[in-house]
Amino acid sequence: MAAEIIDGKAFAARVRVRVADEVLRLKAAGVNPGLAVVLVGEDPASAVYVRNKGRQTREAGMESFEHRLPADVSEADLLSLIHRLNVDDAVHGILCQLPLPAHVDAAKVLAAVAPAKDVDGFHVSNVGLLGTGQKAMVPCTPLGCLMMLRERLGNLAGLEAVVIGRSNIVGKPMAQLLLGDSCTVTIAHSRTRDIEAVTRRADIVVAAVGRPEMVRGDWIKPGATVIDVGINRAAGTGGKDRLLGDCHFESCAEVAGAITPVPGGVGPMTIACLLANTVTAACRANGLAEPEGLTA
Ligand code: GUN
Repeated sequence: MAAEIIDGKAFAARVRVRVADEVLRLKAAGVNPGLAVVLVGEDPASAVYVRNKGRQTREAGMESFEHRLPADVSEADLLSLIHRLNVDDAVHGILCQLPLPAHVDAAKVLAAVAPAKDVDGFHVSNVGLLGTGQKAMVPCTPLGCLMMLRERLGNLAGLEAVVIGRSNIVGKPMAQLLLGDSCTVTIAHSRTRDIEAVTRRADIVVAAVGRPEMVRGDWIKPGATVIDVGINRAAGTGGKDRLLGDCHFESCAEVAGAITPVPGGVGPMTIACLLANTVTAACRANGLAEPEGLTA
């Protein structure tokens, strides 16, 4: 059986159209949604992400505020910027691009972001709200995965889901979201015994371990939906890097019912969900109805 390939690029484009519609609705209600992105230092990959975020924010009709700070900025100065953004009514979402330089305590910075503006969903308040089934700001990548799963499978209730990887950014929130949709959820990780057999039980596999092509086709239950969050760089031909997922695409696609490719699967959904979270934050800040289909 050849799996359906889930086109994350097309899906993300549809999410951005929905976001742009919501921005028009917000503007008609007198609210001009704005996202502030803070970039510390010159990391080239981070600079590319931040540029893309700014461009897509503007294309969706929202205000983009970019704050670039030197790599040797003091923690106190960075915290002071975050505090200013927290009280700025033109800013509905704040994202501090990670990684931060080693001399800055990243946990302290993430904790300083006002939870209502925490469009990354990294603040412990949002982690706790999500974990207790309350309205939270949800991390962008797992939110994107959930949207794709809901579109493909409809109601997820009762399905067996295995999340491979236990990071705070993807694995743990992904498991909470799937639990919120009434899946039976297992989190597998590097210490899991017989991870192949555990994964083979799953109707839904979300792979987020950061190990290239770890998940093989014989780990997959026939017909399962496979979401590959991995973005691993490997040497390609002609001196160019190529991207590999956490799943071995060819063998998994022979068995799965549907699978996301790498690149072009989960990746494009992350910024789309950042925009969705900004709209959600702007609605909540102004007591307006939240957009349907753009939140957990
Ligand atoms: N660096 C790489 N991905 C992310 C992300 O999703 N959020 C933040 N804040 N930094 C990142």
